[in-house]
Amino acid sequence: MSIIDALNWRYATKRMNGNVIPKEKLDRIFKAISLSPSSFGLQPYSVIVIDNKEVLEKIRPIANMQPQITEASVLLVFTAWDNLTEERIEAYIKRISTVRNVSEDSLKQIKTMLEMQLKNTAEQNFVWNAKQTYIALGIGLVAAAEENIDSTPMEGFNQEKLDEILNLKSKGLKSTVMLALGYRDAINDYLVNLKKVRRESDKLFVTY
Ligand SMILES: Cc1cc2nc3c(=O)[nH]c(=O)nc-3n(C[C@H](O)[C@H](O)[C@H](O)COP(=O)(O)O)c2cc1C
Repeated sequence: MSIIDALNWRYATKRMNGNVIPKEKLDRIFKAISLSPSSFGLQPYSVIVIDNKEVLEKIRPIANMQPQITEASVLLVFTAWDNLTEERIEAYIKRISTVRNVSEDSLKQIKTMLEMQLKNTAEQNFVWNAKQTYIALGIGLVAAAEENIDSTPMEGFNQEKLDEILNLKSKGLKSTVMLALGYRDAINDYLVNLKKVRRESDKLFVTY
């Protein structure tokens, strides 16, 4: 499927049928998400993978009772670091050093640049981190479409309550956005045959 065909095929699925996504497909979607670009390559987030029905039943009421939460095969919760810390920067520098087999000393410049962000408030750093999660969300959406897997990006939930359910504070994380992955229930989903609505391209792309 070309990328345009995949993007036309996908839609924000409102009803799913509960079928389970084969592991190989899910692994490729996860791989695509892990290859998402991020500022400095830091990937200041974790993606929580939930297929436990009991947990999903707890999440649904704090997500406007959206059916996809429990009808999906798996729910991804994108969570951003609540702040940037020296330990998190150190861990990243060590990771580059190991993967590329270079000395930590040679990474001083990038480390200094990252450390400059420590002057920011926790909230400013969280906002920066949260933006990166949306890039990963976008890549995940496209990768799912490429695999003929339906998906719903979701911001319609109570962030504080979700963080409580998933005990995110203790992990230094805050939820930002979710991605339900599964298979469309074409009979019960009113959106399945509706045309996509997009702004006119001359309004979206403005020649300067
Ligand atoms: C960040 C974000 C949050 C969204 N939140 C929800 C949501 O909570 N529930 C839902 O059904 N759709 C949600 N959507 C889906 C949008 O309504 C949908 O992408 C948009 O109307 C365009 O339609 P399409 O994705 O079907 O092409 C969200 C989309 C994005 C990108």
